[in-house]
Amino acid sequence: MIYLTVVKGIVLAGGSGSRLYPLTKITNKHLLPIYDKPMVYYPIQTLVDAGIRDILLVTGGRNSGDFLRLLGNGKEFGLKHLNYTYQEGEGGIAEALALAEHFADGDQVCVILGDNLIEGNIRDAVDDFRQRDRGARIFLKEVQDAQRFGVAELDGDRIVGIEEKPARPKSNYAVTGIYLYDSSVFDKCRNLKPSHRGELEITDVNNAYIAEGTMTFALLDGWWTDAGTFDSLLRATNLVARKLKVADAAAD
Ligand code: DAU
Repeated sequence: MIYLTVVKGIVLAGGSGSRLYPLTKITNKHLLPIYDKPMVYYPIQTLVDAGIRDILLVTGGRNSGDFLRLLGNGKEFGLKHLNYTYQEGEGGIAEALALAEHFADGDQVCVILGDNLIEGNIRDAVDDFRQRDRGARIFLKEVQDAQRFGVAELDGDRIVGIEEKPARPKSNYAVTGIYLYDSSVFDKCRNLKPSHRGELEITDVNNAYIAEGTMTFALLDGWWTDAGTFDSLLRATNLVARKLKVADAAAD
């Protein structure tokens, strides 16, 4: 009998969305529309398409109840159940992730940022990761505006470091908001100190894996975008619209 380990999914949808103000004055960023669906639908679908069925949504702020009304138990995604937890304040991506420790309960996790959309499917990478007993894997994408992201420093096929929003990026490879971790990620979150922007940074978590020599990476196929600025929100909408139209044309 082949025993496949469980990889649990975590969607991080907290934070203030301040870069999208006033769109986010009365609602949460992840409830804003991307073409024909609310933003949060896309990362949930990415996890479901990767074969992940146990999913936790971390959210916060005044509109957190709206996620429950919108998503319920995840029936629209073919799920039996959806888990929720609440982040007080907006202390960073790693702070939001740390809230998922009870949910992960020792299993591997696939974490996706609530404003990240991809064209392709990460199922093969997730299935490959299931075979490993320790470490982490991140997904890189070549971009023109690397200074907006966490940026990988590569040495051949090794990743030797990540810098968060560097003024002078050491490569054009952005670290996308999809991360695969073993259960030691929660110890790594506990050891973090707030960055200069006052947040617990996911880049510091990833650098801890690099320091212990257990980080690997894959290059992401297809397009990838975040949607946390006016320009990237528009770009995400256009990319999704084009993808749907291409799929419709192929079906005709
Ligand atoms: O999109 C990829 C980038 O995301 C990475 O390249 C960066 O390394 C990573 O730090 C992150 O950068 P951003 O500055 O774009 O992250 P942002 O603050 O916009 O947060 C992204 C998502 O993380 C957000 O949509 C919800 C979640 N989040 C964020 C914060 C600050 C939380 O759940 N709680 C939080 O407190």
